[in-house]
Amino acid sequence: MSSTSLAAFYVEEDDALIGEFKRLKGINFMESPTIPSTKARYCPERIDAEFEMFRKAYPDYDSTHKLDELRATEYARLDRHGHVYLDYTGGALYAQSQLHEHMALLTDTVFGNPHSKNLTSIAMTHRVEQTRDYVLKYFNASSDEYTVIFTPNSTGALKLIGESYPFAPGDNYLLTFDNHNSVNGIREFARLKGAAVTYIPVTPPDLRVDNEQLERGLGLARPGHNNLFAYPGQSNFSGVQHPLEWIALAQAKGWDVLLDAASFVPSNRLDLSEWHPDFVDISFYKIFGYPTGVGCLIARKTVAKKLHRPWYSGGTITFSSVLAFDHYLTPGHAGFEDGTVNYLSLPAVEFGLKYIETIGIDLIHARVMCLTGWLIDQLVALRHSNGAPVVRLYGPSNTDRRGGTVQVNIIDPDGRMIDSNVVEQMANEERISLRAGCHCNPGAREVALGFTEEEMVACFRDKDSVSFEQFLHVIDGKTTGALRASPGLATTFSDIYKYVQFAESFVDRHL
Ligand SMILES: Cc1ncc(COP(=O)(O)O)c(C=O)c1O
Repeated sequence: MSSTSLAAFYVEEDDALIGEFKRLKGINFMESPTIPSTKARYCPERIDAEFEMFRKAYPDYDSTHKLDELRATEYARLDRHGHVYLDYTGGALYAQSQLHEHMALLTDTVFGNPHSKNLTSIAMTHRVEQTRDYVLKYFNASSDEYTVIFTPNSTGALKLIGESYPFAPGDNYLLTFDNHNSVNGIREFARLKGAAVTYIPVTPPDLRVDNEQLERGLGLARPGHNNLFAYPGQSNFSGVQHPLEWIALAQAKGWDVLLDAASFVPSNRLDLSEWHPDFVDISFYKIFGYPTGVGCLIARKTVAKKLHRPWYSGGTITFSSVLAFDHYLTPGHAGFEDGTVNYLSLPAVEFGLKYIETIGIDLIHARVMCLTGWLIDQLVALRHSNGAPVVRLYGPSNTDRRGGTVQVNIIDPDGRMIDSNVVEQMANEERISLRAGCHCNPGAREVALGFTEEEMVACFRDKDSVSFEQFLHVIDGKTTGALRASPGLATTFSDIYKYVQFAESFVDRHL
């Protein structure tokens, strides 16, 4: 059976779609006769038996049945198109009702650009502020303590911090190795302004931070200086959840704390009456899929006062003069929202948050963790006939202090890693959406894949004159990424089962 017919097993009517997908992506899939037929594996009896074993091992799953109902209604398009979607850390899927609710509002209301005194503008301003309040309510954050600044995404929130945090010589920017590039990027502002930048390593195989290293890093804060400590609530590479207890610990040692919550909040509760980070960045599409283009920075008012914007723009000032060459920045959140906010999309954020509340974030968490636990169990147990593992897992091998991000590489019987991009393409053939690459998290990738500092430094030698092709030559022979699966609120056992079967097709297989 060819790989195409494997895909056809899932969605019999969609050969044309697969062909079109290949054509559009310019992908040259291997129509390889070496792909073993997995048809037998998909027999209902085996799924049923595996499901029963799964339910015994993860009894909490039964309490999440509501999500199966939603999968059949709100996310029916997944099964209509035969998709196995396992890229929730990339972006969540929206429920159909979120779209309907938003479209109904826009269809029935006349909204103008906010922040004026005409009727349609007032109506929109009211909605924007209502959404702002709802974000605080969702995260249980007091409006006395926190303010919400709307941004295009998490990256927009992080850039606001980078450009506005008053870094100066003697100051510190401390961050863990496993940060997203948008958090890493803040180091360029810190460096430019003369602050010291320090990374706290993560250690394989779990890719957690060693306590001693953490203590050493936090010990760097200099009294009387600005010290910013950034870490992800959940690593988007390894799934590791670093302790939220670090927030108060670091603050007690003189740090302002930036909690990158982008991949944490989609399936975990963040209660800002219990935890008090100084800055939190969020992309809403990662929680409920729609709308894209809206995120926020939740900032503690006392610390937000420190931020100095390096410019001003329309929307951020109360008064500006060309003749006097000066301006008054609007106090509070408005001073950080450049230009016109994505106002028509903002009501959809409130609908999205309410949708999540009707399900319950703890229920979503339970579902994701049951599926993640089983997925890891199955993947790490896979063996070639010679006893060698089929999968190399990066990150914790159980559900303790981790989230639903499962990062692996597939290893052939001779111990050679199969390029994650190739595996991703083969998964496409089976209509399974995984994500290959470094996931904008180079630090975790470097530790996980065992890159050395010399190897990495070599990549940047003669940076200005080296072409991308020459750069690829420098890292020749190294697999540069890994394959990420991340279940979410609409994931079912059957989705995970199909991924496990796909992984199993690599047993004893040479490409
Ligand atoms: C942990 C983490 N932080 C930040 C970001 C940046 O999010 P965005 O691309 O929506 O700005 C991502 C995106 O994947 C992420 O996973």
